[in-house]
Amino acid sequence: MQVTIKTAQEIEKMRIAGRLASEVLDYITPFVQPGITTEELDTLCHHYMVDVQKTIPAPLNYAPKGHKPYPKSICTSVNNQICHGIPGQKKLKSGDIVNIDITVISQDYHGDTSRMFYVGEPSIQAKRLCEVTFEAMWRGIDMVKPGNHLGDIGHVIQKLAEGVGYSVVREFCGHGIGKKFHEDPQVLHYGKTGTGLELRPGMTFTIEPMINTGKAAIRHLPDGWTVTTKDGSLSAQWEHTVLVTEGGHEVLTVSGGTPPKPVYRF
Ligand code: MF3
Ligand code: CO
Ligand code: CO
Repeated sequence: MQVTIKTAQEIEKMRIAGRLASEVLDYITPFVQPGITTEELDTLCHHYMVDVQKTIPAPLNYAPKGHKPYPKSICTSVNNQICHGIPGQKKLKSGDIVNIDITVISQDYHGDTSRMFYVGEPSIQAKRLCEVTFEAMWRGIDMVKPGNHLGDIGHVIQKLAEGVGYSVVREFCGHGIGKKFHEDPQVLHYGKTGTGLELRPGMTFTIEPMINTGKAAIRHLPDGWTVTTKDGSLSAQWEHTVLVTEGGHEVLTVSGGTPPKPVYRF
């Protein structure tokens, strides 16, 4: 495992990349309304990144081993879609929940963040899932400090999600991030306290739990990217990029529209 420790200069670039990724989510928020297609959201975000920010949308043509190149600039995962939803011509409708996942490259460094959006009015169940998932991400972030272990993060996320009767997706995880989009370590969203890699200042990684109201099992769509729940149940995800600091952590994917850390309720 090759876990990079970022220098002060690299951290400054990661802060900028993180803020820019988050600002794409701020920008797109008012457009997430009934009737818009996810392809239109992709086009808007693409132009904002390329023309306004002068950032590179990292997903576009991203082709890790075993995958064909990703065809769009953002991921949009609707309702029972878990992650890596490819934007398309289907219109969003009131009651949908959608995850928009943005990764930008700025000065060679990546910032990766996603939020859940309600299209019109969500059902009580959908709102609760999104709120639980948001709190789960934050409980994970709260575990980030030197001397703690990756398993501490996974453990608190799993405990919360399963405690309210939901399930944690196993096949995808958070990841180290820097000059590379996905680098070591893998940040599992389940696990045991005190196990796994010990955290050290200068590590940067994402925490991005995917939580289903039904079973954890996944299905791959024939488009080669989109991942859905196998049982058709709803799925939600939130993502931040985080830095381990001497005193704890710093969330790097922060901008004016970032939802604040919640008061814990679950
Ligand atoms: N942004 C996703 C993550 O959080 C990865 C998307 S890869 C893509 O790791 F190719 F689907 F865009
Ligand atoms: Co990520
Ligand atoms: Co992401």
